[in-house]
Amino acid sequence: MEIKQVGVVGCGQMGGGITQVCAQAGYQVNVSEINEELLNKGLASIDSSLTKSVEKERITQQDKDSTLARIKGTTNMKDFSDCDLVIEAAIENLDVKKKIFTELDKICPKPAILATNTSCLSIIDMAMTTTKPDKVLGLHFFNPAPAMKLLEIVKTIATSDETLEIGKNFGKSLGKTIIIARDAPGFIVNRLMVPQILNAIRMVEAGVATREDIDTGLTLGLNHPLGPLGLADLVGLDTLYFIANGIYAEFKDPQFAPPTLLKKMVTAGWLGRKTGKGFYEYK
Ligand SMILES: NC(=O)c1ccc[n+]([C@@H]2O[C@H](COP(=O)([O-])OP(=O)(O)OC[C@H]3O[C@@H](n4cnc5c(N)ncnc54)[C@H](O)[C@@H]3O)[C@@H](O)[C@H]2O)c1
Repeated sequence: MEIKQVGVVGCGQMGGGITQVCAQAGYQVNVSEINEELLNKGLASIDSSLTKSVEKERITQQDKDSTLARIKGTTNMKDFSDCDLVIEAAIENLDVKKKIFTELDKICPKPAILATNTSCLSIIDMAMTTTKPDKVLGLHFFNPAPAMKLLEIVKTIATSDETLEIGKNFGKSLGKTIIIARDAPGFIVNRLMVPQILNAIRMVEAGVATREDIDTGLTLGLNHPLGPLGLADLVGLDTLYFIANGIYAEFKDPQFAPPTLLKKMVTAGWLGRKTGKGFYEYK
């Protein structure tokens, strides 16, 4: 099956990045948001990301223009009626995602593949709201999607080998390196990364060290490009909170329980880079 037309649900941090990656690889992309304001914000952010790439001479102005010409924004998922593949990148909430999959199943052509960019949630739960669980899989991109080389592909117990193969070929066409995981909470990367970030937050709560020293410990001590608290700000503290809760709900393992400080920061609207304030402040 040849993929030509891609749909992306949600034009936030990840949906915008995924839209950009797919359009840069030559796919026609339709991206949806819940309203015009968020759609315009998401599209503007893709534009500014491409402008930065032109300024850094990674791409030409012509590359930028042709990429943007392949992207169409919409607030109506009915525009996905001719998509061969749809990647859902809405908020990390199972009920929201299940509703989206139910709708996509009605809108998209029968052979279309339906994928989710979920960080940890049960993909079989989303698949079972459709009439074709064999055509559902996880395509988990990393943040920022245009820069990060990894694509974690998640196979549920119902995903067919053919769907997995299409997912792998699609990932390769985007220039990504692929790893395959089972549909288990947090898959590979978040199952390992989330406890580390949550422990760093618990260390801030316990006054073990300053946030700067915790981050420097891991950047210089373990050669991580970003410390866990800086990474939490990049992911978005609301998304991190949803992910921790999502994995904790499945495993009931206290290492995934969101620390009180994280919950309070989310309540205060300190969501990290996207709101200008999290563990650090951003201009
Ligand atoms: N932030 C990360 O580092 C990261 C990394 C990998 C995967 N993810 C996953 O990607 C998904 C999106 O995360 P994000 O960081 O982009 O969040 P975000 O809050 O930046 O964006 C989510 C967007 O989805 C939109 N949305 C919600 N319901 C929708 C609907 N029904 N239709 C269309 N749009 C809808 C929201 O308006 C919002 O703009 C989540 O499942 C998250 O777990 C996040």
